[in-house]
Amino acid sequence: MRLKYKNAIITGSGAGIGKATALRFVEEGARVMVVDVNGEDAKKTAKILRDAGGQAEYQQADVSDFKAVERVVQATISSFGSLQILVNNAAAFVFGKIEETTAENWQKVLGVNIIGYANMVQAVLPHLRANGGGAIVNVASVSSYIAQPAFVPYNTTKGGIMQMTRCLALDLALENIRVNGVCPGSIFTQASENHMKYIGVSVEEGRKLFGQGSPMKRMGEPVEIANGILFLASDEASFVTGAHLVIDGGATID
Ligand SMILES: NC(=O)c1ccc[n+]([C@@H]2O[C@H](COP(=O)([O-])OP(=O)(O)OC[C@H]3O[C@@H](n4cnc5c(N)ncnc54)[C@H](O)[C@@H]3O)[C@@H](O)[C@H]2O)c1
Repeated sequence: MRLKYKNAIITGSGAGIGKATALRFVEEGARVMVVDVNGEDAKKTAKILRDAGGQAEYQQADVSDFKAVERVVQATISSFGSLQILVNNAAAFVFGKIEETTAENWQKVLGVNIIGYANMVQAVLPHLRANGGGAIVNVASVSSYIAQPAFVPYNTTKGGIMQMTRCLALDLALENIRVNGVCPGSIFTQASENHMKYIGVSVEEGRKLFGQGSPMKRMGEPVEIANGILFLASDEASFVTGAHLVIDGGATID
């Protein structure tokens, strides 16, 4: 029980990596607030967590909306009494080369992936401070430091998240609030299926193509990222802050 007596908010946990993380967290004893812009998916994840014997609540919220974020944090405190962990995971996936993007696209991707992460951190900080510390894990990407073709808006925000993580880690270290990032490679989720559709390949072809990018010759599964997030959120990582854990099957070995 690596997260016993810990309460966590996980954004974007209605699906994919966030959902797998929520399940690993309750398996390790945490109470989890499932947050997703898709309320039905959030509700379904919370039910899966409870069916697995865990304690979970859910909130429908768009992380780019600060008022909605404040409501999520208040609901978490009302339900669980305190908060120790934030996992910033929700993302907007905006594909395209620069000439294909619009001001609206940029507002969307910056609103969710950058402002959304910052909103969550601002709203949880007083509650982490009230415990004398806490852990924040920001889900970044290998595209935080390598470029993917025709994926300018999303890649730009993932680079920004990596730097936000470093800045927060530095500013909050003395308060015992650790801030770390995970950098997933190609992981099989709805988002990667949408990416396959965007480049015009079938799921079968896409799994092969995206898997080719790593020396392990496969895509990763969401739980393989969840396990990294779990480590960084747990007290096992008590001296780790400002770090990025790359989980990509070796795709970015240089
Ligand atoms: N799948 C990959 O290959 C991959 C690779 C690198 C990084 N990542 C990162 O992992 C994280 C999770 O990705 P995933 O593949 O599980 O995606 P996903 O699309 O499967 O799940 C993302 C979830 O976030 C929710 N969401 C989207 N916008 C939101 C908003 N504004 N407010 C609240 N919830 C919102 C969605 O409804 C969805 O349930 C993201 O930060 C992504 O950038 C994924």
